[in-house]
Amino acid sequence: MMYPTAILALGLFSSVAQAAVQGFNYGATTRTGADMFQTDFEAQFKAASELANTNGAFSSARLYTMIQSSTTDSPITAIPAAISTGTKLMLGMWATGGNIDNEIAALTAAIKTYGMKFTSLVHGISVGSEDLYRISPTGIMNDPNSVGAGPDVIVSYIAKTRAAIKGTSLEGVLVGHVDTWDAWQNSSNSAVATACDFVGMNTFPYFQATEANGISNAQSLFQAALDVTTKAAGGKPVIITETGWPVEGKQSAAAVASTTNAKSYWDTVGCSLFGQTDVYWYTLVDANTDTATQPAFGIVGTTLSTKPLFDLTCPVVKSTSSSASHSATSGSGSATSAVPTAFASTLSNGVVTTISTSVTPSASATTGGSDSSSPSTVLNIVNDTDGVVSTQTSTSSAPTSSSSSTDTSGASTARFNILAAGIAAVAAAFVALA
Ligand SMILES: *[C@@H]1O[C@H](CO)[C@@H](O)[C@H](O)[C@H]1NC(C)=O
Ligand SMILES: *[C@@H]1O[C@H](CO)[C@@H](O)[C@H](O)[C@H]1NC(C)=O
Repeated sequence: MMYPTAILALGLFSSVAQAAVQGFNYGATTRTGADMFQTDFEAQFKAASELANTNGAFSSARLYTMIQSSTTDSPITAIPAAISTGTKLMLGMWATGGNIDNEIAALTAAIKTYGMKFTSLVHGISVGSEDLYRISPTGIMNDPNSVGAGPDVIVSYIAKTRAAIKGTSLEGVLVGHVDTWDAWQNSSNSAVATACDFVGMNTFPYFQATEANGISNAQSLFQAALDVTTKAAGGKPVIITETGWPVEGKQSAAAVASTTNAKSYWDTVGCSLFGQTDVYWYTLVDANTDTATQPAFGIVGTTLSTKPLFDLTCPVVKSTSSSASHSATSGSGSATSAVPTAFASTLSNGVVTTISTSVTPSASATTGGSDSSSPSTVLNIVNDTDGVVSTQTSTSSAPTSSSSSTDTSGASTARFNILAAGIAAVAAAFVALA
């Protein structure tokens, strides 16, 4: 079967124009409510980037507030911690409670104090988090004391934030808002999406207790939420700002909290997103104090560690048959390694592929074929169902052509390409295996 590779490649290139990032959500206090300081943030950022079997991919941090805990408007010490550890940042401005001026003061002070060392790490700024959800009937049902903010407030805070960064080295950074998928679905909130450069989606099938939310249905609930949010976003990028499955806690309708199910959710939902879309998993260390009433989402449990409770290696996904061909040069070698965790990804058609550019191919890997257009290099890791795993590098013109391989054995071929912008080291490691 011939895949429309050029179209496929175009879609991929446009979605990964900038390498997708992975990370976790980080609060301003520990699970027991203690203030987090620079060393605490550093320890967490370091552990995240050294998590076993993730190739250092979880090196971005989403914050909820710009304000250091227990201060009025001092910048959060996650910022110097991010600078010292090279952690990228999705900043958060806490929008509920009318404290936006202090959030802006902290943001402005951080720009002045840390300059480009700080601002060069920033992927975006989320103005608010789940404020719209908290004033919705569902939010109020789940917590009668719930306090949030309405769409007009969020829109005005987005404007204030844009004004605050104008003329600074953060000008031009994407400004958006994070909310639950059902808040985005609500057309009364549409002015918020309109005001955003990106839309941040939080979604937890575990909590969707009025639906068939067992783990076996979790991926389809996630996909439905993403489809709803994508529609509401009207063409703006959608970032997965929170998702995950609890490792422990009470049952929620058909949803059972367990490490087995947390791994299943990671493998299906997480691994299909990693390397494709910006994802901030919920979460690294459990943030709740009372697992009797609140489920625990920490993938390392309650104590910081680089050893997760379950293996984070993404599964090698079997693909449907691929026999597309292209004139790009292709070569092969052999390797016996699993696909790098965070970069294997599944396309909806079942072909596992991402595109890498700017990888320097190893001399051994390029043979035959021709493509005279200006080159970019693609690294594929191919696993034939007959068990032969090989790497292939191809030189082809981006973005209109994709490397592809013909499986001469006629067996299914899964193609694992590594998204390498910014992660050349990982790609180089695989080239070295060839
Ligand atoms: C829809 O959004 C508006 C504004 O945020 C809110 O007042 C209303 O309760 C929401 N409705 C539902 C069904 O969530
Ligand atoms: C290649 O695919 C086979 C069959 O699906 C699988 O058993 C094997 O683990 C895969 N090899 C690697 C290195 O992932």
